Amino acid sequence: MAEFAEIAGESRAEKYKQLLIQTEDLLQNFKYPVGAMAHVCACLKEYFHFFWVGYYIKEGDELIIGPYQGPPACLKIPYGKGVCGTAWMENRTIIVPDVEKFPGHIACSSLSKSEIVVPLYDKKGNFYGVLDIDSEHLSDFNEIDAYYLEKLNNKLSTIINA
Ligand code: SME
Repeated sequence: MAEFAEIAGESRAEKYKQLLIQTEDLLQNFKYPVGAMAHVCACLKEYFHFFWVGYYIKEGDELIIGPYQGPPACLKIPYGKGVCGTAWMENRTIIVPDVEKFPGHIACSSLSKSEIVVPLYDKKGNFYGVLDIDSEHLSDFNEIDAYYLEKLNNKLSTIINA
């Protein structure tokens, strides 16, 4: 696995590429979804210094907090509520440049200014949860983040049994 120091100075796209390679390597011999999600969150936090990085996992008609890095956050999000519940309902990645302008945004911290939420599926393609990343900066996420984070979640999907 590449050392953090090697990754720290790279562009965001390069960091994502490294993380994808690392994750692919990890998942060859590590088939535990919770551990893999925790590892991915820790890497995203360390490499990119995002304010908050975490997974919410579907449980009935709610999303329940899963592995995360950052300050304590809300524990449950109903289907269709907030950015996370909307990403679930609309089955798509959502980029929010300014959280104050997203109707129904659930504020876990006033420091969070922009956000990206990327659905996670099991290996059969059923909705499993979301990856949620919050930034202290406005407009911190774009299509490049969406592209790589979707790829990252697709890798995790390979070890999530239906
Ligand atoms: N802002 C999210 C809630 C989760 S926290 O950001 C960690 C939302 O609106 O769904």
